[in-house]
Parts: sequence; C-alpha cells; structure tokens
Amino acid sequence: MREKKGLKADYVILGGGIAGMRAAIELAAAGSVLVLTKGDVHESNSQQAQGGIAAALADDDEVSLHYQDTLRAGDGLCSEQAVQMLVGQGPREIQRLIEWGMKFDRDGNKLAFTREGAHSRSRVLHAHGDSTGAQTMRALIAKARHLSGIEIRSHAFALDILMEGGAVTGVLYLDEKQGTVHSLSARSVLLATGGLGQVYQETTNPAVATGDGVALAYRAGALLSDLEFIQFHPTALFVKGAPRFLLSEALRGEGGILRNILLERFMPRYHEAGELAPRDVVSRSIVMEMQKTRSEFVYLDLTGLDAEHVKKRFPTIYSTCLQNNLDITQDLIPVRPAAHYSMGGVASDLDGATSVAGLYAAGEVAATGVHGANRLASNSLLEGLVFGARAAAAMTRPPCPASFPAPPRNEAVPCSAQQSTDPAALAPPEKLIALVRSVLWSKAGILRNGRDLSDAVKKLETLGLGPEIPPQRRAYEAMNVLTVGRLIARCALARRESRGAHYRTELPLKDDSRPPSHSYVRKGGGVFFAPSLPAPATASQSISRGR
Ligand code: SIN
Repeated sequence: MREKKGLKADYVILGGGIAGMRAAIELAAAGSVLVLTKGDVHESNSQQAQGGIAAALADDDEVSLHYQDTLRAGDGLCSEQAVQMLVGQGPREIQRLIEWGMKFDRDGNKLAFTREGAHSRSRVLHAHGDSTGAQTMRALIAKARHLSGIEIRSHAFALDILMEGGAVTGVLYLDEKQGTVHSLSARSVLLATGGLGQVYQETTNPAVATGDGVALAYRAGALLSDLEFIQFHPTALFVKGAPRFLLSEALRGEGGILRNILLERFMPRYHEAGELAPRDVVSRSIVMEMQKTRSEFVYLDLTGLDAEHVKKRFPTIYSTCLQNNLDITQDLIPVRPAAHYSMGGVASDLDGATSVAGLYAAGEVAATGVHGANRLASNSLLEGLVFGARAAAAMTRPPCPASFPAPPRNEAVPCSAQQSTDPAALAPPEKLIALVRSVLWSKAGILRNGRDLSDAVKKLETLGLGPEIPPQRRAYEAMNVLTVGRLIARCALARRESRGAHYRTELPLKDDSRPPSHSYVRKGGGVFFAPSLPAPATASQSISRGR
C-alpha cells in the first residue's frame, strides 16, 4: 500500500477513551490535536465501564482513606506518589467533569455513592445506574467537540510510531475507510490506547482491546513494566456462546452474594470482607470453588435484594441478562472470572513520559505503578482523568524521556516477542489470535505455575503470522496480540512469587526477602526487576491550565 505523507498535527493522541479525551481537552489551547481511534469513537473500555469512578467526596470519606485502600489492594507494589496524585487530584477532576456536563446519580441534591470491593467507604460515583463510562465519555466528547483545535478521526489504526534519532516524530497509520496508509508528523504522541483483554480467551473487554499501545511502544524500543499483573474480574456472565458480559462489582456492593453450584455462600470462608474482598481474592476463590465442585461457574445471587431497586440501579445489566433469558431479580446468575484490566503496560512517570523522548502514555496502557499488583475497583476511570490531564500538560513542554532503572549487567536471555521460530506454525490473523488467546487463558490465567508458564512461552515463540501478511487492521492486531501475549507469559514466568493478581500455585507467598519490585522488559532485552518506578521531574507542578 502506498504511503501518503505531509499530514501534520502538534499533538497526536492514539485512543479516544477517557485518558485520550481528557488529554485532548487539556491540550486544545496549546496547539492542534488529532485524536486517532482505531474503531468508532464509542468503542472503548471506558465507554463500557459500569461500576463507576472512585473519589473521596462523600461526607464520611477522606483522601487518606482512599489512599490507604488503594495501597492495600495493590499488595505492596503501588507507587506511593502515583497513588497520592490519583486520590489527591481525583476530586478536582470529578468537579471539572460535572462542570462539563457530567450527570452523576444523586440522592436528592447530594451525589450518590456505592461501595465496591476493598473500599473502606462508599465512594464510587455512578451515572444512569450502570452506564458510568458511557455517560463520562458523552460529557468528555461533547466538551472536546466544542473546542477548536481538536479533530477526532475514527477508523484510523496506528501501525507504528515514527522515530528519528531515538525521538518520536509522528505516527504511521492506516485509514481503514480509504484503505490508505498515512505518515503523520507530530511534536509528541500520547498512547491512550486502553487495555489488552483480548489477549485472553475470556474477557470483559471489547473487541478493540488488543494491546496495540503496548505493542507499538515495544516496537519503538520503550520500556514496559509489570505486564504479568492481569486483573480478572470475578463476575462475567457465563452463558455458553455469549460474550463474557461484565456484571459490575457494584452488584455485590449493593448486597449481591456469591454461591457455589451447591448453593453454599463461600466468600466468608476465604476473606473477612466476604464478597467485597479485593478483586484478586474473589476471582481466585471462585476458581477454587469451581474446581472443588467440578463446575464451570458459580452463581451471583441478587434475589435477596429489592427487585425494583435492582432494575432501577442496574438497567443495562438487567436488560442484557433478560436477553439471555435471565431475570436477575429472580434467577441465580451463572458467572465466572474473565480478564478485565492490565495493571502493567508502558513504563511511564507521573507525567506520562516514557523512556522514549516524545512518547507519552496515560490510562490503562500506562504503567505508573498506581495500581501496584492489583487495581482497586473503580480507580481506572479516575486514573484516565488525572493522568490524561497530567500527560497533556507535560506534552506542551520540550520532550524529555523519563529515566527508569537500568537492566543489570548480567541481563537474562533476551526475549523475542515478535518473530516466529517455526515456519510451519504460521497462521492467518483470526487463527493466530485464537491460538494466543487459548494459550494465555489456559497457561497464564488466574492460577498459574512455572511449568505452564514455561510451556506458554515456548508455544508462543513458535507462533507467527503468515505466510502472507495482508495490510489490514486485523493482521496488525494479530501481531500485537502475539507480541503482548509473549511478553505477559515471559514476565509471569520471571516473577517467582505470588503477589496481587499474579498467583503461582507452586509459589503461593510473596517474596519478602527483597523489596517489592516491578518487572521491566524492552525489545532486545530480558525481563529484569527493580524496586520502584522513578519520581517525576515535575511531580509538584500543578495542572491548572484550562481549569
Ligand atoms: C465494575 O463495574 O465492576 C468494573 C469497575 C472496575 O473495573 O473498576
């Protein structure tokens, strides 16, 4: 396909979810902003978010409590500074969102809050009951469309980051509607590409969540971090043949109970917080109950709740389940965990700077250390707002790569995350994606062990795309899924302990013999560990512009 040159923008944002749109709004006053979304602008994890946005705004709440809950859920691996920024700047971001037209649910005049797992207070804001993401995106997109200087281009799929002399100069992208490839130059590029759940066979994520940002950053030579930490949401609807529709944690926050197929309530046996234990604990407990009872699912039981309240509070969940012949006010709902969120991603400082000059990351694709080894429920939309705004502010300054820990001298064997070693194992895009997803689900899932992870690494090494690679989005997605799958398996094998969402059955404890460490990996290098991500150069700077 011929490449068209000459396109230019001051700032390019890849991804139109919450982090990307928040960043675009912040950047609008500083220059021309082009937001590229691979699908329709409404296709994103942010759009589908149900539960809500956590922020310490309730009368009985404090920022310090939100801080402590986030650190506790992160299981010793959170960057304390990142968490301070998140919980400290979060309430101001919520206020701004309200000024831009966001309508959170209220009890009378007051904001309504719900409780979710591992929160010590009811602090989760929601909108239209269970459509918080869609309502947030509606407010952000409307605000962005009002600002001159922001262009949103959909069906524009980023193929590669363009570089010169080690710094970013723009993006190469495929215009799917025209069938043309464009090279677009820019002062800086923000990765706000969201999640990677599609690397797993069972996921709550939409089809667009193929880990593109992580793969693009990897190919550009950026450092990646903590990719072994995949959060599995405990309650995805389990109906054979249907997608794993998310059943919000807020259902348990409102009193929903988990039962095994013998109808026994089991969570109190695993954790004192019962159904509202941290998400990693609930997911593991469900898998253990499934194994014990030889079942493929457990039940979520809402039948003890007021039926009218359930219908009003969760209208989308109610109607979606009804389409699957389940009345959630009367029937037990079959559920099981599914891949939901990636705590790791592109190593980024608190201003979104990555190890590559001019390349920034915010939202799920970024690894600032804010979530540690397990994200606290409903902290991710807040992350998109806070760190989207911070990254945008940083992008207006001269590009400067963040500094991260260097690999040790005796670095482990380099990991090849791109090439196949066996020409016979080359597969067309759909088949390759299915193979990767199956390997990750069966060997690098909720309960892992060294033997399976090692098998996964070997199997994924042999896979590849071919024999012809069509110049189509799906082919590039397949390459990205393979790259990300290989990296997750490598990092999970290298982490020889259990911590947060990474649970190895043969190593069930945390390694307390050394400080909690983040994993790092980059193209051409092996996985290495280092204690913590760096403090930002500009951590104390305000992001007041545009307020
Ligand atoms: C949910 O509604 O359970 C998802 C919220 C989240 O992932 O934070």
